Amino acid sequence: MIYQNLLVEDAGYIRRITIARAEKLNALNKAILAELSDAIAAALAAEAVRGIVLTGSGEKAFVAGADIGEFASFNADQGRELARAGQASVFDVIHHATKPIVAAINGFALGGGLELALACHIRVAASQAKLGLPEVSLGLIPGYGGTQRLTQLVGRGRALEMILTGDMITATEALDYGMVNRVVAPHELLAEAEGILKRIVVRSPSAVAAAIRAVNAGVGNAAQGFETEIEEFGRCFGTPDFTEGVAAFLEKRKPNF
Ligand code: COA
Repeated sequence: MIYQNLLVEDAGYIRRITIARAEKLNALNKAILAELSDAIAAALAAEAVRGIVLTGSGEKAFVAGADIGEFASFNADQGRELARAGQASVFDVIHHATKPIVAAINGFALGGGLELALACHIRVAASQAKLGLPEVSLGLIPGYGGTQRLTQLVGRGRALEMILTGDMITATEALDYGMVNRVVAPHELLAEAEGILKRIVVRSPSAVAAAIRAVNAGVGNAAQGFETEIEEFGRCFGTPDFTEGVAAFLEKRKPNF
């Protein structure tokens, strides 16, 4: 597959995948999700690749969420399908990947962007990064596993505060919460993320895979939680709040719920 929205570069055992739609803050549209699904699968299948770094292009954003314009007119069924297909083709594949995937968060990681980082095994953030799940301001909830993975990572209280307020936190706060493993200066971000992988890729690939499977297995059986998230996410698309929230974003004004 030739990618229109991704850059893929290899250095030794490490593959760097960069989402390259900086003018829209790397928002995840259908084309990017399809390319990401293909690129992750290809990296997992490639024998020469033992670790993956996922990052965003430009200085401003890792990923500012799912593409709001693309789902603005969706109904409940389409909303549910959006979440289900995205989780199955990208987010769950990353979560269950048996090669380590490190998110290098170079700026805004919002909504689906933060969920993408949360699906990765390890997260490194640049000091100016901002992280949040702002879906409630659109009349939505996170739909790519955020209600489950954020809660697993930071606990119910902090997860609910972030999900219900929709507020962003700084990289330093994210470090304090345990949401990111490290915070570094922006110019050190990729070297830091790849530095972690360099130490992993010299270990036994079969043991690394086994360790990921074991850790994932112990993270609790959240299958019901993910299913509830998909159902509730879909239901949101049938509400007047969703219509108002998305219209407000596209018209660059505050929503009136
Ligand atoms: N979907 C679609 N387009 C998006 C987007 C998204 N999630 N996030 C940003 N963009 C677009 C903007 O519409 C804008 O496009 P334009 O130049 O054609 O008008 C461009 O990216 C730059 O964003 P802009 O809003 O002008 O930058 P800013 O610095 O003023 O604000 C943010 C940055 C991240 C605070 C703001 O873009 C934002 O709130 N984005 C949406 C975040 C969100 O709700 N994500 C969850 C989606 S479920």
